Amino acid sequence: MKHAVYPGSFDPVTNGHMDVLTRASKIFDTVTVTVMHNARKQGKHLFSLEERLDILREATGGLPNVRVDGFSGLLVEYMQRNQNGVIVRGLRAVSDYEYELQIAHLNRQLGDVETVFIMAATRWSFVSSSMVKEVASYQGDIGKMVPPASERALKRRYSLEAL
Ligand code: PNS
Repeated sequence: MKHAVYPGSFDPVTNGHMDVLTRASKIFDTVTVTVMHNARKQGKHLFSLEERLDILREATGGLPNVRVDGFSGLLVEYMQRNQNGVIVRGLRAVSDYEYELQIAHLNRQLGDVETVFIMAATRWSFVSSSMVKEVASYQGDIGKMVPPASERALKRRYSLEAL
């Protein structure tokens, strides 16, 4: 039984995340997508943990072997507590590599956990949660970049629904 954990901030989940997650769900028997705390984004989250989980639950409803979870603590601790799986992370461009390499080595050093990278499709290479939030905050069209659950939540948050 091959299990993967796909951790991230998911603030909110984008089509790039969904692409990586969907492809992971075809490789692994089960995938847990886990909303975690990123210290570099401290105080910068738009959505609460509960809101991000709700959005993810809706967005992943069509993926039967994917489950949604949340955890605040070290990723290696989560991996040890739950299951002996591998970590999945997505790579969009070379610019992601240095950061991801550092985290992967750190997690292997801390908890002997393997990280597997899935290259996001090039059509999503420019899509990030932070860019999507910026566009949405100026009432730009983010419909092609995020799943409907994220789009609705962003519109609500930036009060676009009345327009
Ligand atoms: O989507 P992100 O913000 O790039 O995800 C980063 C995340 C949440 C996976 C990373 O910050 C993380 O693993 N946080 C949990 C705390 C931890 O284990 N930190 C050490 C590795 S950076």
